[in-house]
Amino acid sequence: MRCRMCGFETGNETELCEECAGKASQAKDMSRRKFLGWGAVTVGGLIGVGYLGSALRMLYPTNVGNGSSAPLQNIGPVAAFPVGHYILKTYTGEGFEDGVWVMNQGSNQFIALDFHCTHLQCPVQWFQSLEKFLCPCHGSQYNKLGQHIAGPAPRGLFHHAVAVKNGQVMLGGQTS
Ligand code: FES
Repeated sequence: MRCRMCGFETGNETELCEECAGKASQAKDMSRRKFLGWGAVTVGGLIGVGYLGSALRMLYPTNVGNGSSAPLQNIGPVAAFPVGHYILKTYTGEGFEDGVWVMNQGSNQFIALDFHCTHLQCPVQWFQSLEKFLCPCHGSQYNKLGQHIAGPAPRGLFHHAVAVKNGQVMLGGQTS
């Protein structure tokens, strides 16, 4: 059977290959932490709960783009980010946490992309071998720079502010 996320053979009758299943599980854990942090009311299912913050952001789009004024947070030394590989980090804003894919592009240049698909906010996963972000929900795809290349998403992934200060990577809120 072919994997529902990456399209490779799973080698068995499961819908996801081993790599995709692991990444989907990691995304669910992050979504659950976000929910617990808010202390929000219970809604059915961990995945549905994890998308609550994103749904609110869709309802109040004025929040998008205010990230440049949000405080930068230290997410570790530059050396902890191998060049050319995305690492999933958590940005903690006022009353919410956000998953952010961060990549060292070399020469102290970083790119930080929000991990929510711009279609219906499912957490996208990075596939190094494909050099793409894939959304497990409805198949949207994004290239290495977060630009939309396939599927129903209306645009590319949102960017977060990111900078290097004194050898430390500093992550901020959404900028675009
Ligand atoms: S939520 Fe990603 S394609 Fe629908």
